[in-house]
Amino acid sequence: MTAIRLSVYRYQPDSEPSASNAPKSDSESDPRRPKPYMQTFEVQAQPGMMLREALLAIKEQDETFAFRHSCGEGVCGSDGVNANGTNCLACITPIADLKQPIQVRPLPGRPVIRDLVVDMTQFYEQYRAVDPYLIRKDPLPEQEIRQSPADRDKLDGLYECILCGCCSTACPSFWWNPDKFHGPAALLQSWRFLADSRDQATDERLDALEGPYKLFRCHSIMNCVEVCPKGLNPTQAIGRIKELMLEQSV
Ligand code: SF4
Ligand code: SF4
Ligand code: FES
Repeated sequence: MTAIRLSVYRYQPDSEPSASNAPKSDSESDPRRPKPYMQTFEVQAQPGMMLREALLAIKEQDETFAFRHSCGEGVCGSDGVNANGTNCLACITPIADLKQPIQVRPLPGRPVIRDLVVDMTQFYEQYRAVDPYLIRKDPLPEQEIRQSPADRDKLDGLYECILCGCCSTACPSFWWNPDKFHGPAALLQSWRFLADSRDQATDERLDALEGPYKLFRCHSIMNCVEVCPKGLNPTQAIGRIKELMLEQSV
């Protein structure tokens, strides 16, 4: 059976550095400090193999190798990684589509906790900041809040987001200002509630996005659209928010 070659990012802050694996050109001042390095593995190819299965095969060879995953079906959003320079969900990325040796790194721009596991705290803080839930001012009806089929259709392409973070961690504006720019994932969610006929907090939501950073740091480079594994379009959602702001201001 054919072997697949992968070169994976290793960083284990709680371990002693391995002299044989440390990059030769490293210029960190403290030589005892653990350093990231790329480690090559070979795993056996399987028919229809996805990148997640190859990572699991690596874990069988080296149980200290760490990456997040759960559903294996492109639903939970936990196994975002960067493969050959592009963010993706490992579980729905076919090995056959990737040039070897496959370079697998953590999602860019986030602090690395260990190997492919990054700290997504800031990403979730930006998500929380857009109040991602329906806000009603009218008293709640006895039963459901009704919505026409046409209004429901406006949520297509928005509600499907699984918060994998592939988009925000591909966005240069988010890399440079993760504490100030909401990033494409959170802004897609902002539009998801602005576009919802049942929500009654349009003014407050738009006011909260004022200023040079939270919304307007997006420069429409569209990295986010290219990497979204669900085929969503955060750039378009951001554009709709800007249009609505303009409409509301005249
Ligand atoms: S279009 Fe905007 S949100 Fe998307 S990657 Fe570019 S700057 Fe970031
Ligand atoms: S918009 Fe797409 S890439 Fe971004 S978090 Fe949602 S599903 Fe992931
Ligand atoms: S493991 Fe859940 S989306 Fe990939």
